[in-house]
Amino acid sequence: MAQDDHSGTDVVAADSSHEADVYTRSPGTAVVAQDAFDNPGFEPHRPRVTDEDPKREKRAQRTVYSLFYLSILGSVWAIAAYMLFPIESNDVGMVRLNNMFIGLGATLALLGIGFGAIHWGKSLMTSAESVDIRHPIGGAEPTKAGAVHVMREADEESGFSRRTVIRNSLIGALLVFPLPAVVLFRGFAPQDQLPVELLSHTMWAKGTRLTLDPSGVPIKAADVTIGSAFHVIPEGLAELEHGRLEEKAKAAVLLMRLEPSELNQAPDRESWSYDGIVAYSKICTHVGCPVALYEQHTHHLLCPCHQSQFDVANHCEVIFGPAKRPLPQLPIAVDEEGYLVAQSDFTEPVGPSFWERS
Ligand code: FES
Repeated sequence: MAQDDHSGTDVVAADSSHEADVYTRSPGTAVVAQDAFDNPGFEPHRPRVTDEDPKREKRAQRTVYSLFYLSILGSVWAIAAYMLFPIESNDVGMVRLNNMFIGLGATLALLGIGFGAIHWGKSLMTSAESVDIRHPIGGAEPTKAGAVHVMREADEESGFSRRTVIRNSLIGALLVFPLPAVVLFRGFAPQDQLPVELLSHTMWAKGTRLTLDPSGVPIKAADVTIGSAFHVIPEGLAELEHGRLEEKAKAAVLLMRLEPSELNQAPDRESWSYDGIVAYSKICTHVGCPVALYEQHTHHLLCPCHQSQFDVANHCEVIFGPAKRPLPQLPIAVDEEGYLVAQSDFTEPVGPSFWERS
């Protein structure tokens, strides 16, 4: 069997033995196995209604371009939504509206293109089988030699190898070039405070009440039944004018109640809980996702991002996954009205371990 190798020469099977029936040699060194079965190909072309009825064809055409126009509308709406619902005031309601409407627009845009393209392909494009023979990937020898010649010539003309001082200074310039971006990104952080300092403290302070997220209703110790888990924010967070999201990202807490006998508390932390009620940072110490899944029977907290697991009964130590340190514990107590309050801020930075090391 002879094949065209696209270099002007015919490639012939290596020999006429049985092996030669099964394998052919490529123009390179690879031995290419033939299919064990004949390629059945596509079924014979069956005319579709759009092939036979011009009216149906027109209708399909209208459907396809309507879907594409719908996609355009979706894209325009996504841009409009970005301007109509700006995230400027740290207003959680506006964030939701912004995300929802941009998402709707983008969804419409993608679905419009997707459905339009599928409908176009299925109802209007030709469905007859056509074969495009795969070409060898490597170029012919003269082509490769030509490419090497061009590279050498370019090197010679530019003096890239010869003029080492210029070449090395160019490499230096390219290496330093990304540094302004680092400075610009630093500018995103508040200018009057060190970022590490900012991340080391949260809104929690002595006497701050623990309140439900997102309603801000204070929590009484008597309301926390054994086995329950609450998502908690500090009192006053909901009323913040500025920086509410940033503060929430640092101060979010999970509150759980276990049988006091099941709690294995470090001696220096025995006073940090109240009658089996413990509070831990909700921010995963791996890369900062919210640890939001609590398994009541095992007392395990699971971070859904990379499956780190923390054992609430044992100081929230890491029992599985990539997190490297326990979730920080918030010392809590009960005030004279029976509400849960913080004894102080966290005693260590919350979130990824990187900040702890700084
Ligand atoms: S962020 Fe929690 S496991 Fe990665």
